[in-house]
Amino acid sequence: MTLKIGRGAAAPPFLVMDVIAAANARQAALPPGGPKVIRMEVGQPGTGAPAGALAAARAALGSGDPLGYTEAFGRRSLRERIAAHYRDWYDLAVPVDRVAVTVGASGGFPLAFLAAFDPGDRVALAAPFYPPYVNILSALGMTPVALEVGPETRFQPNVAALDRLDPPPDGLIVASPCNPAGTMLHLDELTEIAAWCDRRGVRLISDEIYHGLHYDSPIATAAALSPHAVVVNSFSKYFSMTGWRIGWLLLPEDLVRPVECLAQNLFISAPHISQIAAEAAFECGVELEGNVARYRRSRDLLLRELPRAGFDRLSPAEGAFYLFADITERSNDSVAFCARMLAEVGVAATPGVDFDRTRGNRFVRFSYCGPEGDMAEAAERLRGWR
Ligand SMILES: Cc1ncc(COP(=O)(O)O)c(C=O)c1O
Repeated sequence: MTLKIGRGAAAPPFLVMDVIAAANARQAALPPGGPKVIRMEVGQPGTGAPAGALAAARAALGSGDPLGYTEAFGRRSLRERIAAHYRDWYDLAVPVDRVAVTVGASGGFPLAFLAAFDPGDRVALAAPFYPPYVNILSALGMTPVALEVGPETRFQPNVAALDRLDPPPDGLIVASPCNPAGTMLHLDELTEIAAWCDRRGVRLISDEIYHGLHYDSPIATAAALSPHAVVVNSFSKYFSMTGWRIGWLLLPEDLVRPVECLAQNLFISAPHISQIAAEAAFECGVELEGNVARYRRSRDLLLRELPRAGFDRLSPAEGAFYLFADITERSNDSVAFCARMLAEVGVAATPGVDFDRTRGNRFVRFSYCGPEGDMAEAAERLRGWR
């Protein structure tokens, strides 16, 4: 007898995990003390949680607090601190009741999608994209609609591309700075998109996880531009707390109660200890800005040096810690290209196929969140490689 398997089982792998495994295997095969594999495939800060967050977590562990479930939307004090963050960074007053603490941005996506959309709904997003957007939507029975964008719009969607969608979508996901291109939607562009969504009754979901990691232009939050937008954010990137699995949603009024009910059922609450650490992380600005300065230097170095190594078609990255390289002139098979780069010069990067199913064979994503010295070394190794 064959039992039924649900559509969620069709979710494709997140291929970067395979690249990580290959880089680990390559490192293990190298002689100890010799040159190491340079990790430019991973998208997580190597720095760990800031010292103040660690101290708060240690104190909580020693306090006798049982650290049980919190309310589904999180500890009140953390929600208040997140609301204050909008005042500090964006000069925006945010009602605490609209802040929902989640299990990372990843935990926020199914909550937002389930509350905002029905199975069969069409949700637009730019391609290249962060793969889980598409994989989660598909697992939930929604239809992702990829808008193929390129360097002419800095790999971001615009109103002209949205206007061409017939029928119009039910939702739109944007990310600025985005993964994998590291490019941004500037205030005027996001304003236009938010207004377009509001005019058409399209629910805007804005992934703002890379806010804080922006180097040239100011960031804009969709929360200031539309009363209907859902903002997704996280402590994983700027706050350097990936494994603590903590993030937040900023919800429009009509989705507060639906998301609360979903969160109670799906997650109960985000990890309590992480909520305490995250609240303290807001006071660690000096340490965190030190990380940002390092990323900025690495970005500048790679934008200068990678073209000398034959990667001369790079995304104009203004944020996050990624560069998306068009390798059309060098290869039509980014998986094989990355495998050869790893084998021959020990530089691990992610093939674009993860992010764009039709054109990703011609792109590679370089992540520069690793040690600064490694980035210079990678550029050096790649200069001598063809
Ligand atoms: C654009 C984007 N959104 C969301 C996430 C997931 O973040 P979290 O660790 O908060 O679940 C990532 C992780 O790389 C990402 O790049």
